[in-house]
This record gives sequence, C-alpha cells and structure tokens, in this order.
Amino acid sequence: MSELNEQGNKLLNLLADGEFHSGEKIGELLGVSRTSVNNYIKALQEIGLDIYKVTGKGYCSATPLTLLDKQTIKQVSGVEHIHVEQILESTNQYLLDNMDFLKNGTACIAEYQTAGRGRRGREWISPFASHLYFSMYWRLDAGIEKASGLSLLVGIATVNALEKIGIQGVGLKWPNDLYYQGKKLAGILIELKAQASDACHSVIGIGINVRMSAEQGKLIDQPWVDLNSITVQPVDRNQLSGLLIKELHQLLMDYEEKGLSPFLSRWFDLDCFINQQVNLIVADKVQSGICRGINEQGALLLEIDQQIKPFIGGEISLRLANN
Ligand code: BTN
Repeated sequence: MSELNEQGNKLLNLLADGEFHSGEKIGELLGVSRTSVNNYIKALQEIGLDIYKVTGKGYCSATPLTLLDKQTIKQVSGVEHIHVEQILESTNQYLLDNMDFLKNGTACIAEYQTAGRGRRGREWISPFASHLYFSMYWRLDAGIEKASGLSLLVGIATVNALEKIGIQGVGLKWPNDLYYQGKKLAGILIELKAQASDACHSVIGIGINVRMSAEQGKLIDQPWVDLNSITVQPVDRNQLSGLLIKELHQLLMDYEEKGLSPFLSRWFDLDCFINQQVNLIVADKVQSGICRGINEQGALLLEIDQQIKPFIGGEISLRLANN
C-alpha cells in the first residue's frame, strides 16, 4: 500500500480538524453505511491515528492534524526534488531502491512507515502523521573514507534546524542520537552503497519524535521525549522538514569541501557527555574514560590514564559511567 484510498483520505481530511463528526455525516461523505464507517475508522486507528468515539457526538481525532504538504516543504527549503509519500515501507529503503534515478540531495518524507528501521536491526515505530520520518540521498564524491564523520554532521544540521523553529537545549550523543534532558528525541541511520575508489552513495535517515501518544510511548524500550512536550506551540512538520533540508544541503556541501574541522567546536558545545566519565562498549569490552569530544575523522576521544585515545566505527555504545 502506498497511500490511503479515496474514502480513507476523505475521512482523514475531515477528522484532521480535531472536531467531532457524527457517524451519519461521515457515512454520507464517504457514501457508505454506518457499519462501513466503523471499518474505515478502525483502518485509520490501525495505522496509529488516535481517534475516539463519544456516544451522541461522534468521532474525533485526539489532536488536530497538520498533514505533510509538499508545496510548503519546497517553499521553506527552496529545494525542488522532494518526495512526499503517505505510506512507505521505509523512507531509507525508498531512496536506496531509487538511487540510480535520483538527483543529489533528494529528500523523502512519509506520513507512515510499515517497516521503519532503527540501528542494530531494531524497528523504528512510525505511526501515521505523528512524527517526522525523513531521508536524504547524498553522494560523497571523495568516497567511503568521508562517510565516517557523516552522522555527526547530520546531528549538527538537525539541531540547527530545531533551533530555527525555536527548540533550544537539544544535545548530541556520539555518534547518532539527539537527546533532550537525558531522553532520546531523535535518531540517525545512515546506509551506504559504495565501492572502493568510487563515490560513496549515502542515504541519511532521520527519525524525530514529534507527538507521541501514551500508547505508542509504551512500545519504546528507552527513555524518550517528543517535540510537543518541549514546546508550547505544536510543531509544524512541514516547516521542520523544509528547514532540515536547507540545513543539510548547506552543511553537507561545507563538509565535502572542508571536512569536519569547521564543525568540531559546534560538536563540543552540543555534546551531551563532554568532560564526563563514560563507559564505551566496544564489541564485548567496556572502556572507561572521560569524554573529550571528537576528532576530524569523527572518532570519539576518550581520556584514559591521562592519554587521549580515538574510537571509531563498529558496534560502539556510549553510556554515562553511573548509568
Ligand atoms: C535509531 O535507531 O536511532 C535510528 C532511527 C532512524 C529512523 C529513521 S525514520 C526515517 C528513516 N527511515 C527508516 O526506516 N529509518 C530512518
């Protein structure tokens, strides 16, 4: 399935206002019986929409919905090559599948992912119209060596975009996560297609928690936070997507030209663990040390016995020492 059918869309647009709508009125709009109305409501609930029923009043979405809008995203970003889809397996997979035909910097955003993926083979739970599921195709002409610092750069670009919509206080956890007050706000998954001595084709996937329902939150096995509990004003995913595209294009071009050096001090300011005692789990071994930021290759710098050692790649997991 790549999009809702005509009736599903009509119902979605009706309920988007967050007001009550009677079963009778919905039935008339869709041209179906009251029993079928129930089935259409169930179908939307199954993909994660929080719709409830009050006897005598009808059906209502728990919050008003602002759906993704390609025109607004194009306008905010100033970029033309943007794919906005309702339903995809995964926005990363979509770009990987279509990579041969894509212009560099093409973005893909979906309302819903049927098999959104996180790192280490985990699922990224992706309810309809709730969060931001975003991917971008970027070709690194310098090849695979340049890919090691990519997730750090992407983290900085994401924090910049969030700051531009007024969200302050978001930090970065090396190498792939955005945190707010000790809870995960967003994650980055970069997938590569590369051959030695050739350009490296990357798909940069970013998932940002925007509006998590209590039900969905229960399915996540680590402390999390969403943007709507950080701000008073509900976050507009179209604005955020547009600014994220703009910021990524700018920073990725700078990165290709100058590497990570110009970004080291910004990382230092955003690093959640800077100058703190941490444990780094490399394969099955634990390395304890003081976090001293990153180097120009994107390696984590740990001070161990008064010596600074770089750590990069593989299955490395970073924790505060007292956690
Ligand atoms: C993580 O495990 O923290 C990384 C999560 C990355 C999720 C995003 S959502 C958009 C893109 N498409 C996917 O299937 N995954 C990434």
